[in-house]
Amino acid sequence: MKVTAIAPSNIAFIKYWGKKDAALRLPTHDNISMNLSNLLTTTTVHFDQIYKKDDIVIDGEQKEKDIAKVIAHLERIRKKANIKSYAKVLSKNNFPSSTGLSSSASGFAALTLAGTVSAGLTLTEKNLSILARLGSGSACRSIPSGIVEWKEGIDSDSSYAVSLFSESHWDIIDVVAVMSNEKKSVPTTEGHERAQSSIFYETRLKKIKKKIEICKQYIKKKQFNKFGELIEAEALEMHAVMITSHPPLLYWLPTTLILMKRVMQWRNEGLACYFTINTGQDIHIICQKKDEKIMLNKLHSMNEIRKVIVNYPAEGAHITDNHLF
Ligand code: DP6
Repeated sequence: MKVTAIAPSNIAFIKYWGKKDAALRLPTHDNISMNLSNLLTTTTVHFDQIYKKDDIVIDGEQKEKDIAKVIAHLERIRKKANIKSYAKVLSKNNFPSSTGLSSSASGFAALTLAGTVSAGLTLTEKNLSILARLGSGSACRSIPSGIVEWKEGIDSDSSYAVSLFSESHWDIIDVVAVMSNEKKSVPTTEGHERAQSSIFYETRLKKIKKKIEICKQYIKKKQFNKFGELIEAEALEMHAVMITSHPPLLYWLPTTLILMKRVMQWRNEGLACYFTINTGQDIHIICQKKDEKIMLNKLHSMNEIRKVIVNYPAEGAHITDNHLF
């Protein structure tokens, strides 16, 4: 059966950086994210005996490295469903991939949902999240809706994401400023391996549990400024770990730093806005929906920014009838 799924990318408020089991993609600690309404992957999967091999096209391309990862995931699905047939997979992102906007999160979440249904499986949200995690860790957070927590777990079956708050809980937005279409120099999976080489990593782990609890309280009580301060400091902490890893990882461009400073300046002038950054040069500015227009005006006036994408808290992976082939 041909099946199509749409899945959102997500932005981590408390980051997943470092794994206790690389093969199983078990994170060293719990982490929290929000699904993004306008960074979406749509994927159609068709398992059928008519295919002589897996045929995979992502954004019109067949890049060897991406294809290998998708085939490994199709294998996981075939094993679970106890089928042998190959699949045709067509996938499209509505945003630039591999620049740090987490196309692997939305990509593996959409592939997991469309793939399992096409293979005849009906998995629970928990089991979809576990399976998506094996493709890319952060993909497990794009399965449930809204603001999501990924519990580190102690083994594969206990490491998955659940919804903490629905997408309508809080009127916050994530305005993404795309600074460049340059691909990441070091892929995220490789970056994770370096985390523990930073002298700051142990210190980070000592404080992380408490930070997660406080973050959840701020979200629950909708304390925007406290929440913003916490997540911006969290992003800087992760980047401090990256910069002090061996060899060092520095994902920012000069323009990234210009915008970080600008956000701090706008805040000093009274606009409640905070940034967070993943493995890339692009910036996610978190602000309140009421400030959307004023934020967009500010960003549109900056020559350093190539593109602006506004995101609201979004539902997780879901099925659609609009097939890509
Ligand atoms: C910095 O989920 O992309 O964006 O499990 O190796 O595929 P793999 O890593 P990935 O890591 C995301 C790292 C991050 C922080 C985050 O999203 O939590």
